[in-house]
Amino acid sequence: MAKQNQTLGEFIIENQGEFKYSSGELSRLINSIRLAAKVVNHEVNKAGLVDILGAAGDTNIQGEDQQKLDVYANEAFIKTLTNREIVCGIASEEEDDFITIQGRNKKNDNKYVVLIDPLDGSSNIDVNVSVGTIFSVYRRVTPEGTPVTLEDFLQPGNRQVAAGYIVYGTSTMIVYTTGHGVNGFTLNPAIGTYYLSHPNMTFPENGSIYSVNEGNYVHFPQGIKNYIKYCQKEEEDRPYTSRYIGSLVSDFHRNMIKGGIYIYPNTSKNPEGKLRLLYECNPMAFLAEQANGKASDGFTRILDIQPKELHQRVPFICGSKRMVEKAEEFMRDA
Ligand code: AHG
Ligand code: MN
Ligand code: MN
Ligand code: MN
Repeated sequence: MAKQNQTLGEFIIENQGEFKYSSGELSRLINSIRLAAKVVNHEVNKAGLVDILGAAGDTNIQGEDQQKLDVYANEAFIKTLTNREIVCGIASEEEDDFITIQGRNKKNDNKYVVLIDPLDGSSNIDVNVSVGTIFSVYRRVTPEGTPVTLEDFLQPGNRQVAAGYIVYGTSTMIVYTTGHGVNGFTLNPAIGTYYLSHPNMTFPENGSIYSVNEGNYVHFPQGIKNYIKYCQKEEEDRPYTSRYIGSLVSDFHRNMIKGGIYIYPNTSKNPEGKLRLLYECNPMAFLAEQANGKASDGFTRILDIQPKELHQRVPFICGSKRMVEKAEEFMRDA
């Protein structure tokens, strides 16, 4: 049960029994993520004061210019998770390949793999706009005692045991699920503790916000073009409000609280879509469904897609259930 003013530490202990596999490992894993998030938060907060803004000078496997904070956050999460020897493998948006962690006495006896987008919305760093971190946790499928393989990471999203995000916004929040609803915790920076501020978060069934990079309109599929026209039409409760931050985490967070839909379709420039299935769409889809929302690629439930490669991209439509269903209807009819 979620209790107001509970700390995240207390909440994790109290709800340990709810985890499907309650060995305590998953609790320790969430604990490590919350710790790494504090480290990254500290760095994000002083961006602008120290030399952490701007490009790092490298390109990641996605073909994107890495920002210094992309690299910093990636290292902070990997280091924290590796040092604590809780997971057997990590895959990250910023790494070409997955990382194997042998753990205590090189026994490969840890059970979980983590997939992360260490810094989401990195184009917003230099202009002091909210960024985030997204994480996704699976139980490995290959036998314990052996090093992880690609198979452990290429699991459909419906196999996730936990997922969440951190939003470094006006306040820093960690929002996560272990398959028993979604809870949000806000960091009190003075004492470094997260408090349960948003128990049992849910998307309103319907909403009035649509979030899409409309600059790409001419490159959108016809179904999405038609849905956008529908959002803008003066009829019933429309036109809707348009809000697009350009950080998936922040756009999702706002839409979950206020009611809305986020769309990143395939475009002629990105024929598979832009967002990454494993680091962005699956964790957000798991959270959305746990919060009474919905996530789709336009035709198929995101969580049912069988991944074929680590850095796979996918079109993404996510948010209030009735809005996502409406967008799917336009996709079908186009
Ligand atoms: P990342 O910073 O992790 O590479 O992700 C960027 C993503 C997502 O956060 C955001 O919603 C989207 O890219 C914005 O893309 P556009 O600038 O093309 O709208
Ligand atoms: Mn990136
Ligand atoms: Mn991202
Ligand atoms: Mn990123």
